[in-house]
Amino acid sequence: MSDKQTQAPKKREQWGSSLGFILATAGSAVGLGNIMKFPWMTGQYGGATFLVTYIIVMIVVGAFMLMADFLIGRNGKCSAIFAYRKIDSHFTWMGYLGVFSALLAEAYYAVFGGWMMYYIVMSFGPLAHMSDAGAVGEFFSAFISSPVGPLVGALIFHILTTLIVVGGIKDGIEKASKVLMPALFVILLILVVRALTLPNIGEGITYYLKPDFSKMSVGLVAAAVGQCFFSLNIGTTGMVNYGSYLPDSENIPASTVKVVIADFAAAFLAGLIIIPSAFAFGIDVGSGPSLLFVTMPSLFARLPLPWLWNLLFFVLLLFASLTSSVSILEIFVPNVMELSKGKLSRKKSAILGSTLCMLLGIPVSFSFGIWGDVRIFGQDIFSLYDNFICKIAYPLIALCTAVLIAWIWGKKN
Ligand code: ALA
Repeated sequence: MSDKQTQAPKKREQWGSSLGFILATAGSAVGLGNIMKFPWMTGQYGGATFLVTYIIVMIVVGAFMLMADFLIGRNGKCSAIFAYRKIDSHFTWMGYLGVFSALLAEAYYAVFGGWMMYYIVMSFGPLAHMSDAGAVGEFFSAFISSPVGPLVGALIFHILTTLIVVGGIKDGIEKASKVLMPALFVILLILVVRALTLPNIGEGITYYLKPDFSKMSVGLVAAAVGQCFFSLNIGTTGMVNYGSYLPDSENIPASTVKVVIADFAAAFLAGLIIIPSAFAFGIDVGSGPSLLFVTMPSLFARLPLPWLWNLLFFVLLLFASLTSSVSILEIFVPNVMELSKGKLSRKKSAILGSTLCMLLGIPVSFSFGIWGDVRIFGQDIFSLYDNFICKIAYPLIALCTAVLIAWIWGKKN
């Protein structure tokens, strides 16, 4: 391996402080995966059985793999493709697969981001007055199935993400995370109290907290692993990039534990709000991506000033999603900058990445409407993207990361 291949930029930016790193990393982990996807997967895979499996996977696999990613990044002090190559050039492909998966993930992430934008704007309109879950469901379906509106939302989401990425790692991400992460947790805690004081909440709580191990299946375990990887950004190579900005003095195991706890707490609280509320309102917990968007406004309608709750919640969720989408685009940007040997600036790489994601997102958005009947390998387009990254790409990269760390790096050191 030549020096040229492994060369890192001379002055790599570093996180301003350990707390800044933890908050930014937790910010990148906590996003739609926790607040939107975790409750919908819990609903689809039998409630508490999925929750218990998820906790075990987070501890046994998640924490260790996250640590491994940080270590590889800090060791390389360069983007993922080069960091893998620095340890063993046979593993460089993982970096490329990570970049490709990031484009697919960002493509659908921004579509959901666009839905949130619409809900923020609609806080001042019809959404504020809807207390009936059926009416909210119709309102939501009408929007996501329309061809143009969701794409405009996704475009705005991409523009915001690009602006933060171009702002740089420290100024852009770190400052925003310090304020917005704690604010999100405060609002989640308030909503837990409201949800748990709804009438007829018992059945939903039992479903969420009392496991029924007869529901255990290989599919459930695979889904829990995929969700853990998506949520902690394991196998995405994103955490390798974040680790590359770490000083050698950082205590990686201690920081990892804090990030895993914050990430799990956000998902658990979201589930504790959404699953019992959905039961109380008669919403199907197995309804997938729509679960959050139908349940939350129905819950806000039971609070004073529903429009304000709607606005607050979706604005904070938007910021949580932005810190995550920034970290996804950050997988693409430094890799491309380093691959182009400095010919592509941060700004140009970010714009290129966002443009590709916007184009890749168009079929995803249409899959909730005009292309709803399209099936590829028996799957709708959104599921195709999601299953490819969560069930194939991330687990494959994570498995090879384990081999790389335990076997190859372990032998060398
Ligand atoms: N880890 C990010 C999330 O959960 C992608 O939203």
